[in-house]
Amino acid sequence: MAIDEISNRKRFLAGDNVYLPHIAVIEKIIEETPDTRTFHFSFKDEKLRREFSFESGQFGEFSIFGVGEAPFCISSSPTRCDHLEFAVKRVGRVTSALHRLGAGAEIGFRGPYGNGFPLGYLEGKNLVFIAGGIGLAPLRSLIWNVLDKRDKYRKIDIIYGARSPADLCFTYDLDSWKQDKTVNMVTTVDKGDDSWTGREGFVPQVLEQLAPSAKEAVAVVCGPPVMIRFTFPVLAKLGFTPGQMITTLEKRMKCGIGKCGRCNIGDIYVCRDGPVFSYAQIRDFISSEY
Ligand code: FES
Repeated sequence: MAIDEISNRKRFLAGDNVYLPHIAVIEKIIEETPDTRTFHFSFKDEKLRREFSFESGQFGEFSIFGVGEAPFCISSSPTRCDHLEFAVKRVGRVTSALHRLGAGAEIGFRGPYGNGFPLGYLEGKNLVFIAGGIGLAPLRSLIWNVLDKRDKYRKIDIIYGARSPADLCFTYDLDSWKQDKTVNMVTTVDKGDDSWTGREGFVPQVLEQLAPSAKEAVAVVCGPPVMIRFTFPVLAKLGFTPGQMITTLEKRMKCGIGKCGRCNIGDIYVCRDGPVFSYAQIRDFISSEY
């Protein structure tokens, strides 16, 4: 399977109007950090609830009626589809409005959009998952997807970092992965507090110390731009080729369907051609634009 494997891009349209969202209900909210929450939601329409499918790495446009909409990746795994999840960091008007919602509130959803992670390409490989902060949201969908079909993959390393212990997201997942004997899970924070007994250090530094082998391996990197920018050179130093490094970009998206022109970087549209890319696809412009 090629690295540029494209998902089937199946979309669940609410009607002829591509901007018309489906109505979904928030079922549960998890406080991840002081400014980040995970929302569990399901579609109101029973048929859609049954038939909806997506791929790890795809995103949707979520709307708060009367406020606006914003793109977020689906952070749950397609292998666990009794409900869907997305995580939101409070940074602006739409995200603040989302944080004010409680369980039972209705939101809009259109999608799924974009490609997904190239699962076929990852099969039979050693996998190195590297994430920072809320960048774990798209990656946890892939990690659970992979772990639910564990036999198809070889060694799994997960390196996850955040600024401080209070900024670690999905701690319930981190605990599960730590207990999984088939996974090498390493958590780090830039700076610990009095109660932190774990590792300290930036993600790229920790990656260099751990030095996972590049042999028959693929690294998947998700996180803040600065982390991604410093992680790729470390991977290259460890012997990973540009085709062995994958990331997901979430830059400047608005319409999500290749119409508004907001998300282009060089010749590519993040929403339409991504958001998942190999470093080989984006290396020519990532240093100047991302
Ligand atoms: S978000 Fe509109 S073209 Fe990509």
